[in-house]
Parts: sequence; structure tokens; C-alpha cells
Amino acid sequence: MTQEITKSLTPSFLSALRGLLLFALAVPTLAAAEPPVIGGLHHAGADRFAGAVLAGELACAACHSTTREAFAPKAGPNLSAIGSRANGDHLRAYIASPSTVKPGTTMPDVLAHLPEVEREETAKAIAHYLASLGTPPVSAPPASEAVERGEKLYHSVGCVACHSPEKPLDGSVPLGPLEAKYSVASLSAFLQDPLAARPSGRMPDSHLDSFEADDIASYLLRAQQVAVEFMKPDAALAERGKSLFKQHRCDACHETGEKPAALNLPPLDKLRGGEGCLSAKPGAWPHYPFSEEQRSSLKAALGEQDRAWEPEEKIGLTLTRMNCIACHQRGELGGIAADRNPYFTGRHESLGEQGRIPPGLTGVGAKLKAEWLREVLANGGGVRTAMNTRMPKFGAANTQGLAEWLKQIDTLPPMPFERVTKADKPDQVGREMLGAKGLNCIACHTFRGRSAAIPGPELTTMTERLEENWFHHFLAQPQRFVPLIVMPGFWPDGKSTQPDILGGDPGRQRDAIWQYLSRGPEAGEPAGLVLEPLVIEVKDEPVIVRRAFPGIGKRGIGVGYPGGINLAFDATQMRLATLWSGGFIEASGLWRGQGSGQARLLGEAPVQLPPGPAFAVLAAPADPWPAAAAGKPSFKGYHLDARRRPVFRYAPGDYSVEDAIVEKRDEAGKLYFERTLRIASPPAGLHFRAAADPSIEPRGANEFVVGKKLLIRAAPPLLLRDTGAGKELLLPAAPEMKLEYHFINPS
Ligand code: HEC
Ligand code: HEC
Ligand code: HEC
Ligand code: HEC
Ligand code: HEC
Repeated sequence: MTQEITKSLTPSFLSALRGLLLFALAVPTLAAAEPPVIGGLHHAGADRFAGAVLAGELACAACHSTTREAFAPKAGPNLSAIGSRANGDHLRAYIASPSTVKPGTTMPDVLAHLPEVEREETAKAIAHYLASLGTPPVSAPPASEAVERGEKLYHSVGCVACHSPEKPLDGSVPLGPLEAKYSVASLSAFLQDPLAARPSGRMPDSHLDSFEADDIASYLLRAQQVAVEFMKPDAALAERGKSLFKQHRCDACHETGEKPAALNLPPLDKLRGGEGCLSAKPGAWPHYPFSEEQRSSLKAALGEQDRAWEPEEKIGLTLTRMNCIACHQRGELGGIAADRNPYFTGRHESLGEQGRIPPGLTGVGAKLKAEWLREVLANGGGVRTAMNTRMPKFGAANTQGLAEWLKQIDTLPPMPFERVTKADKPDQVGREMLGAKGLNCIACHTFRGRSAAIPGPELTTMTERLEENWFHHFLAQPQRFVPLIVMPGFWPDGKSTQPDILGGDPGRQRDAIWQYLSRGPEAGEPAGLVLEPLVIEVKDEPVIVRRAFPGIGKRGIGVGYPGGINLAFDATQMRLATLWSGGFIEASGLWRGQGSGQARLLGEAPVQLPPGPAFAVLAAPADPWPAAAAGKPSFKGYHLDARRRPVFRYAPGDYSVEDAIVEKRDEAGKLYFERTLRIASPPAGLHFRAAADPSIEPRGANEFVVGKKLLIRAAPPLLLRDTGAGKELLLPAAPEMKLEYHFINPS
């Protein structure tokens, strides 16, 4: 019925009628569609520039040919593994009417002209086809602690520069009904590598590690009460869907691993303004629910004579299309909107605004060396370790050209100075000037990751990142580049505050600093650098640190228990990996560097438990322990017990394990670990390996001393066997198993 109405009525009458129908029948599929949202266009007016941005972001040139660079179409998501990512039931609804299911989406409604029944059937067949591309990962519903952590991360790492925070904000890139589309596992996988699924880079990669991605996914899917079941594809429908996908030109925007069909449509420069996709009329073309403003911008841009764009215009176009200007300002363009400003935070107030607001991009081409500039744009990252917002990764292909244009346009006149010769020992002089008794740069900047007080940008990589000429200009007058910077000018009115050094010559002094810093990490340490270790202390509550641990890799979970016993759990292999007593960890390697470091264990020498799977099915008790897990093990996270100790949950195979490790005191008052493993439906022959070591000595029926440092106690039967390479202590799995781990102090 809707189809008949659509054909015979004008759009405005139609939308009024839809409104009425909505009111009377509350039929959700008839809601008026919201125009597509382009994040970077939020504050731009209706003009040719906005029109060019729209033409590119809405991928007009995916179908209509053009030679104009400015209209280069945004690539749509890569669908070659969409079945692993999204639930087919949701895709069916979305394909049938994209902007009703996800208001503000940039995907047009390609099936709008089909009669309703045919449209639904087409969408269904295509959804079955897409569901057949991939296999959904095993998933669990979100855990409440993960939701809490994810909420904090989502609101601090930069997501809300483009998306809405908890309170909806105008101009936000919509997320749609995520809980109908993803599982925690599939959304987490997407967030860890968004460029694989969406190669356009419009949704950039925020460098989330797998824990952070799990947490944010849990937060975004907090409405899910139970784990979602993805639609199972029907082979016959999927086959039909595959040809419909081509027939409706979905492959003009989407890669599926198939060759796209050839298009023979009117070229962009020759389009009739009020017709086809630009009209509000239904027809055999994609339907975009444009606002009037968007429609007139598009007409203006398409009607414009082809011309060469100036580099600054091209820069503006890219910064707007990629929405860099949600976080950065360049000249008059962009900058952080007032309503999003509170979400830009930092960990060090004394850095002022430079500790929380991403750096400006005005003149950045004169500041950064070409190589570093390209690196930052393609891979993100940076040197501002105290800032919570991250510079995301946009991908080399999506930022191609930008670095070149910036280098071309941004220039500074050369600042003359006299170079310090070797005879004047620039290294030594520079080192003195940086130190506490000189200009004390180390008070505000890190030096090889360490700082005296305030962790500003790293000094030893400056000459690698910065143009030498810019460095001289900047040091001479920092406020000229960053008006409210806390860094003082050390050469007020062109005079040195250190007249005894190098004759008080400002240029020579700055050159000495540059030459000294050019030694990079080899540079000798300036005086006054405080080696301030970052000891993580455990007080009345357990402390959980999810980072890299020695011998575990990135997915380590360290837990310091009150009283001074600690463990590290390996979430990749799902095993208790390390036990130690005394101090917990020193973490400067984790937070000061770029996250590549590991935690340093404090306290007594740690006890290492065996690598490899902790659970395995042994057909015969004498079979060797496997080196790798048989099935697809999956870690499900942890929840906290009443005393905030983690209870790990994981599925080493087709069965799941709950692993609770708590601290207890023996009769002598000494702390030990009590571990309870609960296994839901353990398969026949399942064994648990408690220890593997060259030395395991029985001390009683149910006590064993492992490597002279640890005593393991468990209820019988326990199985001690010799593997040739050493000993192994095994337990046949039971629905509930209890073990104790006691530390043996060196006597
Ligand atoms: C998925 C492919 C596709 C995309 C993407 C697309 N169009 Fe079209 N467009 C068509 C088809 C099909 C027609 C109908 C052509 C015909 O009837 O010959 C059409 C027709 C038109 C016409 C009328 C052509 C004429 O001169 O009669 C205009 C104007 C138009 N499109 C503009 C746009 C704009 C602007 C965009 C981007 C916002 C766009 N199109 C995106 C497929 C597409
Ligand atoms: C620079 C702006 C920007 C930032 C920063 C950003 N996103 Fe996005 N995000 C987008 C855009 C634009 C899209 C839609 C991309 C497209 O059209 O393919 C998107 C898409 C998504 C989607 C997919 C929605 C769907 O329908 O499947 C999710 C989920 C998402 N973003 C979450 C996040 C999270 C979480 C963060 C922070 C870690 C984040 N985004 C950071 C711009 C951004
Ligand atoms: C003009 C380009 C264009 C055309 C034509 C197009 N799409 Fe899309 N599609 C997009 C864009 C852009 C997005 C991302 C939109 C968003 O996240 O809001 C998208 C998203 C999707 C998604 C979700 C992808 C994901 O990774 O989450 C599916 C599925 C999809 N489209 C299927 C289709 C099908 C089926 C057709 C044909 C009936 C089609 N598209 C036609 C541009 C297009
Ligand atoms: C979510 C916010 C966000 C978005 C979006 C974003 N950036 Fe950044 N950008 C940052 C942060 C934060 C830094 C500082 C990183 C650091 O040094 O640790 C940064 C640093 C930079 C730098 C280095 C500047 C300097 O002086 O060291 C450049 C260049 C840059 N961004 C360009 C871009 C471009 C181009 C885009 C779009 C393609 C973009 N950024 C998008 C947050 C963002
Ligand atoms: C009172 C604190 C303070 C002192 C002292 C200080 N700086 Fe800075 N410096 C800063 C801050 C804050 C920034 C801005 C960081 C940003 O843009 O994010 C900065 C920026 C810089 C930059 C630009 C870095 C970049 O990548 O954007 C250079 C170069 C620099 N300082 C060199 C020095 C040198 C050399 C000294 C000693 C002669 C020094 N600073 C002393 C606080 C200080």
C-alpha cells in the first residue's frame, strides 16, 4: 500500500501523511528519514564546498563516472566477512530501509522503488547471502564491570569527538541499533581493526588493545541481556541473494571479493540537477533522504565548472571528509565544539590545555618532518603520553597527498643562526642547558620516557620529528605558536637568560640543544632527571592491571592481593601463569613509553607455571600433554566477587570454566592462594595440568613441592608422571576442583 501512495503523491504531502500514519498506527517503518550525517560538515554552510564533501562521502562517483579528484567516492564497508561481524536479521531490516533502521546513515536506500513485498524478499535474500560470508565468533553477553570500564574509555579516548556521548549531541555520526547488529566478540573484533571492515578510514583505528575493545563493545551493547544468536543462512536464499546483490549495484560501493558489475550511467558532470538521485522522486536509482540544504549544495558543486583545487582547499576537503576537525583546528577550520570539549581530558593538569586538547594543525607542515607527518597520518600515535584522547590511525591510502600538500603550503622563513663547532662541545653544553641547573627542560618533558615532574613531549625524539628551522622559531617564541602554552620563552627580547653559555648567543645556544638532542636515545642524561619508579601499591582491595607481563605477552592480567601475594593470568592461553609474593609491580614501562613495555614484577622471585593449555582431553592417561589447544579456546572475561577479586571465565573447548582464586591464611598466618575451578559438563578424559617442572616432589598423598619454591595441595586423585623432559602434575577434571598454592620461602 505504501508503494501506491509513494507513486502518486508529492513528497511533502507524503511526509505529512506518514506523520499522521505514524501517530495513528505507530508503525515504526514509516518514520520520516533523517538526512545523512557527515561528521565534518556539522558547522559548514550550504555551498559548493559542502556539496563536494557530500558528493564524495555519499559516493555519487561509485556509479556516475567522473574525472574530478574532489568527488573521489568514499569506499563502503568491505562485506567479504560481514557474516562474522553482523547479525543477518539486522542486515535484512537495514537493507530494506537503511535510514529508518539507522537514521543519519550515509548508505542510500537502493531498494526504495520496489513494491513492498518484493523489497522485503530482496532484502531477505541478500541478508542470507551476506550471512553466508563468514562465521560468527562465539560470544557472551556483556559483563557489568566491563560495561563500567568501557563507558569511561568510550568517553575519554576520542570516540565522542565523532559519536554522541551518553547524552545525544547534534551532528554526531550515528551508531544505529548496535545491540541488534553485533555480539560483544564481533564488535570487539571490529573495534580492534576498523580499517579492515571499513577501509575508507572514516571510522579510524583508535589503537584499542583487545581488553579495551572488549570493554567498549560491552558498554555499547549494554542493552543486550543474553548473547545474540546470528541468523543461520539458508543456502538457496543465499544463492539468490548473491545475484540480487549485483543486480541492485550494491557492489558499486561494497567489496565482497567478487568482481563488480560494469556500470553504464550518466557521468557526474552531465547530470540534470533536479532528476534521479537528486530528486525526492522514487525510481530505479538510490534514494538519499537529503535535506533541502544538502540538495542545493550538491547541485552547486555538480554544476560548477571543473577546475584545479588549490592545495589549501584540498587540505580543507580532506580534513572535513575525514573529520580531523572534530579534534583539530587549522586556521579558521574546525576545532573542538563547546559541547564536546569536556570529553577531552588528560592525566596531568600542569600541562594546561596542551595536556588535554589535541595540537593545532595550523602550520603543521612547517613543524613536522615529512616522514613523521606521513607516519602520524597513516598510523596515528604520538608523543603526548598524558593526553587521554588518541590520535587514531587513518591508513596510508586515506591520507595520501595530505602530507605533501601540508609540506608545500606551510612554510616559515629561515631563521639564521651560527652553528656551534665541535670545539665548543655542543653535546656537553646542550646537556647542561637541558638539565635542572640550566633551563630545566626536563621539568616539563620526558627524557627517554622519564620526567622530573611533568611528562610533556619526549625530548630525545624531537629532532627526528621536528624541522630544525621550526625548532629555532618555536624556542625563540613558543607563545607565537601555542598562545597559552605553559612553556616559557627562554630568550625574552632575543636575550639569553644564561649569558655565560656560548657568549649568551641565542642562536648558538639553541643549536647546541639541537645538536645534543640529535644524538637521540644515545644522548647522555641531563642532570636532575629523577628516576621515579611507578610502583603500583596494593592496599585493602585487590588491584587488577591488564597489560603485558613477562612471559605472557599483551593479554596479561596481573592481580595484586591485599597482604602481598600476586598472580598473573594469561588470557590468550587461559592459564594461571605466574605467582609471586611481596611487592606487586613497577609499571613505568607500561605508561611512560608507547605501551610496548611490560610490567616489572617486584617482590620475591616469581614461580612460573607451564605455558600451553591448562586443560586437555587425554584419551589414555599416559598420552603426552599437547603443546597447543585442540579447539578454539575463548576467554570470556572476568567478574568480581564480593571482595573485588576477579573470577575468570573461559572456554578452553566446548566446555566452560569458572576460575576463582582467593587469598587465604594458613595456621601460621602466612598467605596462600586457594583456587576453585568449576567446569560445566567436562568431556570424558579431560585433565588439568597443575604443574610441569624438572623437579616435583611428593610430600604426602595430596601435597607436592614444585621447583622448591611452591607447594601445591589438592584433593586426590593426583597424577605425577615423568615426561622424560621433567615431571608433570595432572588432575582428572571434575565439575568442581580445589587447589592450594603455598609459597615456600628460601631458607
Ligand atoms: C548505486 C549507483 C548510484 C549512486 C551511488 C548514485 N547514483 Fe545517481 N543515478 C543512478 C541511476 C541508476 C540513475 C538513473 C539513470 C537513468 O535513468 O539513466 C541515476 C540518476 C541520477 C541523476 C539523474 C540523471 C539524469 O541526468 O537524468 C542524477 C542527477 C543523479 N543520479 C545524481 C546522483 C548524485 C548527486 C549522487 C550522489 C549523492 C548519485 N546520483 C549517486 C545510480 C546511482
Ligand atoms: C573521526 C571520527 C570518528 C572517531 C574518532 C570514531 N568514529 Fe566510529 N565511526 C565514524 C564514522 C564516520 C563511522 C561510519 C563509517 C562509514 O561510513 O563507513 C563510524 C562507525 C562506527 C561504528 C559502526 C556502526 C555500525 O553501524 O556498524 C562503530 C561501532 C563505531 N564507529 C564506534 C566507535 C568507537 C567505539 C570509537 C572510539 C574508540 C569511534 N567509533 C571513534 C567516525 C568516528
Ligand atoms: C552509494 C554507496 C552504497 C551503495 C550503493 C550500497 N551501500 Fe551499503 N553501505 C554504504 C555505506 C557508506 C555504509 C556504511 C553506512 C553506515 O555505517 O552508516 C554501508 C553499509 C552497509 C552494510 C553494513 C556493513 C557493515 O560493515 O556494518 C551492509 C550490510 C550494506 N551496506 C549492504 C548493502 C547492500 C545489500 C546494498 C545494495 C542493496 C548496498 N549496501 C548498497 C554504501 C553503499
Ligand atoms: C579523536 C581525535 C582526533 C582525530 C579525529 C584526529 N586527530 Fe590528529 N591528533 C589527535 C591527538 C590526541 C594528537 C596528539 C597525539 C600525540 O602526540 O600523542 C594528534 C596529533 C596529530 C598530529 C601531530 C601534530 C603535532 O604537532 O605533533 C597531526 C599532524 C594530526 N594529528 C593530524 C590529523 C589529521 C590529518 C587527522 C584526520 C585525518 C586527525 N589528526 C584526526 C587527535 C585526533
Ligand atoms: C614549564 C614547562 C616547560 C618547560 C620548562 C619546557 N617546556 Fe617545552 N613544552 C612544554 C609544553 C606544555 C609543550 C606543548 C606540548 C604540546 O604541544 O602538546 C612544549 C612543547 C615543546 C616543543 C614542541 C614539541 C612538539 O612536538 O610540539 C619543543 C621543541 C620544546 N617544548 C622544547 C623545550 C626545550 C628545549 C625546553 C628547555 C629549553 C623546554 N621545552 C622547556 C612545556 C615546557
